[in-house]
Amino acid sequence: MQFPEYRPRRLRRNRNFRRLLRETALSVDDLIMPLFVRHGKGVRAEIPSMPGQCQYSPDTLVEKAAALAKAGIPAVMLFGIPAKKDAEGGEAFSDEGIVQQSIRAIKKAKIDILVIADVCLCEYTDHGHCGIIVNGEVHNDETLKRLAKSAVSFAKAGADVIAPSDMMDGRVQAIRKALDESGFSDTPIMSYAAKFASAFYGPFRDAAESPPRMYMEDRATYQMDPANAEDAMREIALDIAEGADIVMVKPALPCLDIIRRAKDEFHYPLAAYCVSGEYAMIKAAARNGWLDEKKCVMEMMTAIKRAGADMILTYWAEEIAAWLK
Ligand code: PBG
Repeated sequence: MQFPEYRPRRLRRNRNFRRLLRETALSVDDLIMPLFVRHGKGVRAEIPSMPGQCQYSPDTLVEKAAALAKAGIPAVMLFGIPAKKDAEGGEAFSDEGIVQQSIRAIKKAKIDILVIADVCLCEYTDHGHCGIIVNGEVHNDETLKRLAKSAVSFAKAGADVIAPSDMMDGRVQAIRKALDESGFSDTPIMSYAAKFASAFYGPFRDAAESPPRMYMEDRATYQMDPANAEDAMREIALDIAEGADIVMVKPALPCLDIIRRAKDEFHYPLAAYCVSGEYAMIKAAARNGWLDEKKCVMEMMTAIKRAGADMILTYWAEEIAAWLK
């Protein structure tokens, strides 16, 4: 059929037609809220480059997690800011680390929400890189040992999911093996499988106090080149082969093509991370009256789902849950 017989506008004539024809639905069930936690009590420190987002202390984090569970959000992802940073990132694998304490606090309060623990060293190292430095470079296999220890320590604290974001080679295999040997064979791994060296992580590095400070100015020797899609497919294939239960693509909007290819090629549970810079740019434009925040966010999230994501990590999770009501 062709014009004038076929007229696509017939099915767009009013809201009810559009509701019936809508192909992609966003639900509160799809959302994961990232949260930042630091030592202290009663802390709710606003993050200037991420308006509306805070660093919490374990007590206020529990309140936040309870509010998110009440809003129907199924999961949170935790990032920790340690009391002290060192060359090894010691607090990442100390049972008294800030994330370990926070997981225990959320579990003790019996909040009905999954706790996903981000595993990486960049928040914990004084140099700000995601691994151990040997001879001025991030040493892959030395880093794997610490990541595995960190993952086991989070699992022991009660983490429901382990999410490695470091981009070392072989980390999913090392973490899976360590979890299994420690009695956590039922703890799933959500791997940041296709993680690009993106400038859109800028505000996160303020929030987590984790910019690379020494040796190399960026993470380009371990995170992927944003120009590469084939490399992304290889990374995802490797993580699945090593035992990842959910694979993630990050960032989201600049990578809709990667999300689509990942879904089509692997038919595997797929997460997309709408990162701090994506959040900051819409917030900034909305504050200037240049964009309608709610409409833009709903369009973005729908596009990320349309591209093939099963779940979305987003700092807007709580607001979206309210908008969907
Ligand atoms: C840690 C990590 C980062 C993000 C998630 N985990 C920062 C980075 O790799 O530099 C970014 C998240 C965001 O920007 O919202 N490795």
